[in-house]
Amino acid sequence: MKIEAEKWKAEIERDLAAAADEIALQQVKARYLGRKGVLTSLLKEMGGLSPNERPLLGQVINELKQGMEEGFSRRLAEIKRQKELEELEAEGIDITLPGRWRAMGRSHPVTQVLEEVVDIFTSLGFQVADGPEVELDYYNFEALNIPKDHPARDMQDTFYISEEVVLRTHTSPVQVRTMEHQRPPVRIICPGKVYRCDADISHTPMFHQVEGLLVDRGVTFADLKGTLEAFVHLMFGRDTRLRFRPSFFPFTEPSAEVDIECVICSGEGCRVCSYGGWLEILGAGMVDPAVYAFVHYDPEEFTGFAFGLGIERIAMLKYGINDIRLFFENDLRFLEQF
Ligand code: DAH
Repeated sequence: MKIEAEKWKAEIERDLAAAADEIALQQVKARYLGRKGVLTSLLKEMGGLSPNERPLLGQVINELKQGMEEGFSRRLAEIKRQKELEELEAEGIDITLPGRWRAMGRSHPVTQVLEEVVDIFTSLGFQVADGPEVELDYYNFEALNIPKDHPARDMQDTFYISEEVVLRTHTSPVQVRTMEHQRPPVRIICPGKVYRCDADISHTPMFHQVEGLLVDRGVTFADLKGTLEAFVHLMFGRDTRLRFRPSFFPFTEPSAEVDIECVICSGEGCRVCSYGGWLEILGAGMVDPAVYAFVHYDPEEFTGFAFGLGIERIAMLKYGINDIRLFFENDLRFLEQF
């Protein structure tokens, strides 16, 4: 009995596999399970068996039936899939080919850092202002208290469109443009591109700055310190120390440069900080009354502070990058690391 069952099982499998399409498959099913089917007639033979043989045969036939049903479904799925593939192939589509892989894009590291800086200052209550990159000499220099013959112009040599029109050398002109149109309180930051005739390991002809300006009644240097301290702590971590060094800018008085403790060596002294333990990150100061004169603010009524920071410089410190030009070579091996 056992041997018979194995024989039938093998036969069923062979017949199912041999069925090339759905019709042939239905015929195989009918041949075994139909009214005059092989398994049905086997069942009829049960009558001639002794009472203790009957359940045995019954069990064998049930197993064969079940195997038949399962094999039928499996083979049917196979046939359908095969048919689909043939149809696709007829249309010239090979779905077994690997898909075309598209690299996922992401923001440039400079954009990432710029957005982070903007997020920090907007969270402190500053609004984002905008100004032109092709700027009048008046806004870029004159109204910032840098007259034509002023030596400070040497440090910001730029590309001249004409004698009166330049590519802006800093985002500071947006200070003047904003104050021309708005009475205090003014609380703005201006992120954007700036240009200078400069090119070496730490200078590129185009780079990014974020300018800040806050003017109101009773604003003091303490407000400037508190704001920049909050910024440094959010940007570089709560434990980062900072210091204000006296400096000079024509449009602020007093002026300062702000250093942070070297992020690489934590102030111990290393190559990045030239063994000084400090890194300069921005310029700042109290808005010079001479600037207020250009925008008709009364310096007796209003005081304010301004600051300007370089985004590439912050990104270099944050990621330990030692050559600014890497940002603009568009080498994916570099860019993919951010
Ligand atoms: N504009 C200056 C520069 O590009 C940076 C700067 C210094 C901006 C002091 C300021 C400031 O607003 O108060 O070098």
